[in-house]
Amino acid sequence: MSITSIGDSRPKITTATLAARKSNGQLITCLTAYDYATARLVDEAGIDVILVGDSLAQVVLGYDSTLPVTVDEMLHHTRAARRAVKRALLVADMPYGSYHVSPEDAVRNASRFLKEAGAEAVKLEGGEKRIDDVRRLIDAEIPVMGHIGLTPQSVHAMGGYKVQGKTLNAVEQLMRDAVALDHAGAFSIVLEGIPREVAAMITEEVSVPTIGIGAGPDCDGQVLVIHDLLGMTFHPAAKFVRRYADACAVVSQAIESFKQDVLEGNYPSDSESYHLPKDTAAALDTIQERKRAMSK
Ligand code: KIV
Repeated sequence: MSITSIGDSRPKITTATLAARKSNGQLITCLTAYDYATARLVDEAGIDVILVGDSLAQVVLGYDSTLPVTVDEMLHHTRAARRAVKRALLVADMPYGSYHVSPEDAVRNASRFLKEAGAEAVKLEGGEKRIDDVRRLIDAEIPVMGHIGLTPQSVHAMGGYKVQGKTLNAVEQLMRDAVALDHAGAFSIVLEGIPREVAAMITEEVSVPTIGIGAGPDCDGQVLVIHDLLGMTFHPAAKFVRRYADACAVVSQAIESFKQDVLEGNYPSDSESYHLPKDTAAALDTIQERKRAMSK
């Protein structure tokens, strides 16, 4: 199997595919997935990029920020997604602390995602400040997806989850961050939580595809956290989230029905039970009849 083919008619998505999409003006789709079943459904639906995002800290592990998730936990979930994904580009998120100490540390941690979990690229948050890390990763043959704007790993530094890029200075800094990532060789840049106008300017300026989340429709692609899209979260959705399903309601209803069926003796039915082969059942009947006769 070649790197550009997955053995069926669907061409494998690579970083080169994404670059070509920008040149051709074809939009890019990206979703998060953190386990085999979800990654398989997302891949089979033809989504281009599957991100094992550190959002798993919140939507899967129940933390109230992305900060606590570890490299080992991210590796565990990336491996699960890897077993499912055939066509999409599989990107793993570098968790907080895994690239903030030194570029050497960044390469050591990032290479584990490719070597031990089968990721094809990593994502890290930050622009100019993280350029040394980005360069070192690219030198080490690790494709990098940048991520600027509302970067959740900076929640405390930002003073909360706030839309970024609202002042002229902030817009100029975002533009410098995007250009720095582009020049350093990032293959795409996630733009999160910034005004539509700023995302449009950055998308126009940089040579690599921008993938928006809460950044308006003028990016080269869009990403959502799968639990937001499915309605599988327990907090009010952000303004940019479009819920395509109410999975909480569907799942709760199914669990309630199971509970009622068990309590009322309606589950399992005879047709949901295994049965003895006829000859074994007949032999068992004979033995029991004999026992009954002897006990009279
Ligand atoms: O962790 C994540 O899911 C992300 C996306 C929101 C881009 O970083």
